[in-house]
Amino acid sequence: MKLFDVYPLYDVTPVRAKDCIVYDDKGVEYLDFYGGHGVISIGHSHPTYVSKISEQVATLGFYSNAIQNPLQEELAEKLGAFSGYPDYTLFLCSTGAEANENALKLASFHTNKARVIAFENSFHGRTSAAVSVTDNPKINAPINKCNPVTFLPLNKIGLVEAELKKGDVCAVIIEGVQGVGGLDEGTKDFFKGLENLCVEYDVVLILDEVQSGYGRSGRFFAHQYHDINPDIISLAKGMGNGFPIGGILISPKFEASYGMLGTTFGGSHLACAAGIAVIDTLEKENLLSNVNDMSAYFIAEAKKIPQVKKIKGKGLMLGLEFDFEVGELRKKMIYDKHIFTGSANNKKLLRILPPLTVTKEHIDIFFAALKELLNQL
Ligand SMILES: Cc1ncc(COP(=O)(O)O)c(C=O)c1O
Repeated sequence: MKLFDVYPLYDVTPVRAKDCIVYDDKGVEYLDFYGGHGVISIGHSHPTYVSKISEQVATLGFYSNAIQNPLQEELAEKLGAFSGYPDYTLFLCSTGAEANENALKLASFHTNKARVIAFENSFHGRTSAAVSVTDNPKINAPINKCNPVTFLPLNKIGLVEAELKKGDVCAVIIEGVQGVGGLDEGTKDFFKGLENLCVEYDVVLILDEVQSGYGRSGRFFAHQYHDINPDIISLAKGMGNGFPIGGILISPKFEASYGMLGTTFGGSHLACAAGIAVIDTLEKENLLSNVNDMSAYFIAEAKKIPQVKKIKGKGLMLGLEFDFEVGELRKKMIYDKHIFTGSANNKKLLRILPPLTVTKEHIDIFFAALKELLNQL
């Protein structure tokens, strides 16, 4: 059987990885400034992560959500304390799209309404409701287009109020910092305005922190730069350092009932072991402070490069904007310099999503390679 051919592939076959370095089947070393699309948080094959998952799979990898699972409680306790949301509750699932799917469903149950306000250039995943609030008609099939969604530009609070006044909106969903779209973000005033309007019109504010969460922005959640408390926060990616785990943090104002949400695989013993290893390591190794230090160093180095027209993003969720499309540059970074980077809807943006353990030495290697390639253009 062949694979359903939906991914354009680079001709590289990674077979192992350690911290920020990925090794291919020929033994070539690649510097990972892509983190498998913002997924690797505590570094590839971190020893705490490897031993925690190995011990768990050898003991009990999975049962179901119909029995007691103290690992879920341990993860919820640690995540609540570390993220600053100890009074929120946690629903566990397996992916970012599933997290948003459940966030939107909960908002709709709670308000008994259906229309959603989302933002231009947003990305929230590829399942039914999540893709319908994603601003990309190419990945929305007719079945997804049945969900009522209104897309608005970022930072136009008056337009949001005009829509909420109509009384049929269940949720506003927004990324902490836009990922796939190209690192645009709401201003502090805009986020504050959204919080106020959602309270005034009894609409659920959903912060999609699937990519910007788990320390990547330099705070645990990117919205914490804006001093707001969303009603629901969705998570995935860095939460499991590669193990599929996602979740939503839910404000105490929502009441749960049996059967309201559910999943077979979400919150399995193995997924919780991965999640606990990640949160323990983020805390023990003080990785948020590394994110802030390395972000400042990266930005200072980027500013020295005249071809870089704009530096976007926060923490280690960064983008370098050029006045040309970066497709060829990315290929050369991979094939000639052995460095992985990311792309965005904005074709002129080179995206940087390294593991949160990245060092100055790694950043120096990246810039030496980038400068050499830019001088050849
Ligand atoms: C902000 C955001 N939300 C949701 C998703 C979807 O996550 P997943 O691919 O795990 O379903 C992504 C994936 O890139 C994302 O960046």
